[in-house]
Amino acid sequence: MFSRIIGTGRQLPERVVSNRDLEGNLDTSEEWIRERTGIERRHIAADGETTVDLAEGAAREALKAAGRQAADVDFIVFGTTTPDLVFPNCGALLQARLGIRGCAALGIEAACSGFIYALSIADKYVRCGEAKCALVVGAETLSRITDWNDRGTAILFGDGAGAVLLAPSEEPGILSTHLHADGSHGDLLFATGGVSRGFNDPPGRGVIRMRGHEVFRLAVNALSSIVEETLHRNGLEAQAIDWFVPHQANLRIIQAIARKLGLPMERVIVTIQDQGNTSAASVPMALDTGIRDGRIRPGHLVLCEAFGGGFTWGSALIRM
Ligand code: ACO
Repeated sequence: MFSRIIGTGRQLPERVVSNRDLEGNLDTSEEWIRERTGIERRHIAADGETTVDLAEGAAREALKAAGRQAADVDFIVFGTTTPDLVFPNCGALLQARLGIRGCAALGIEAACSGFIYALSIADKYVRCGEAKCALVVGAETLSRITDWNDRGTAILFGDGAGAVLLAPSEEPGILSTHLHADGSHGDLLFATGGVSRGFNDPPGRGVIRMRGHEVFRLAVNALSSIVEETLHRNGLEAQAIDWFVPHQANLRIIQAIARKLGLPMERVIVTIQDQGNTSAASVPMALDTGIRDGRIRPGHLVLCEAFGGGFTWGSALIRM
């Protein structure tokens, strides 16, 4: 038994902030941001617009694409690092929005790898027969924990949500998922503040702190190794991959991994120019983009990966 993706959806906030818009407040330039990251603009949630608001839109799109009703969903896994509340978890909040009752609803926090972690968990539940229609979400409002005075991070992040629905199938779907973490590098990328430590640094909210250059180097190493692991475990060469759907953190990281795989950029789904780094939302939104614009088609082999705070990293090999 496999789990297969039967529908995808995404939602972005309406408001768009360009690199030029950031020049006004930060000691940076449009050219520096574009050349060092590939980012040209990002979507930022309106005041009061939350992670679950965005996720609801993405989930409804995925249900529509799959021809399913919300009542069909019997398992929800929601990856986010910017939840609406400490609790209830965003999976339960989304469940209520969709008018579903009774099914299990999980919140997963694995920073930018949140969607891959969520997908891996949902895949196991579907494969073992515990779920018949699993809703997997990656959604973020990273703008809420961005320090808008820190040019090293404020230029990177955006908001958005992506969702996929999984159903059981005898035909191959998700072929394998691979998850890793290394907590020893937690000081290179983290958000200040928290429930147990208190929200006093700075007062009132936590903000992202990152040593970007070191994160960049470790991300390239970890991602190179996990794509090799994924191919090896499936007995495949990189040339078998139809589409590479990477986490959208930095265009130079994406290019480095594609180069290591020997894949031309024409076979890579890149959305970073329009969305920035949307953390857990980036892979499902890129997947949805490729499917909706007709590049990713049934039967194609898709390799997804992500790397983020923790550090956490993961991959999924998917037959569409
Ligand atoms: N505008 C202009 N100059 C800048 C900016 C900016 N926005 N940001 C940094 N600089 C300067 C630095 O101060 C430094 O100046 P100096 O040489 O005078 O000291 C110079 O540019 C180079 O700085 P680096 O940090 O070495 O720049 P780098 O090329 O590494 O790019 C970046 C920085 C874009 C952050 C990159 O390191 C990166 O993408 N890192 C990885 C991010 C990532 O993958 N995160 C994981 C996921 S995020 C998550 O989990 C939430």
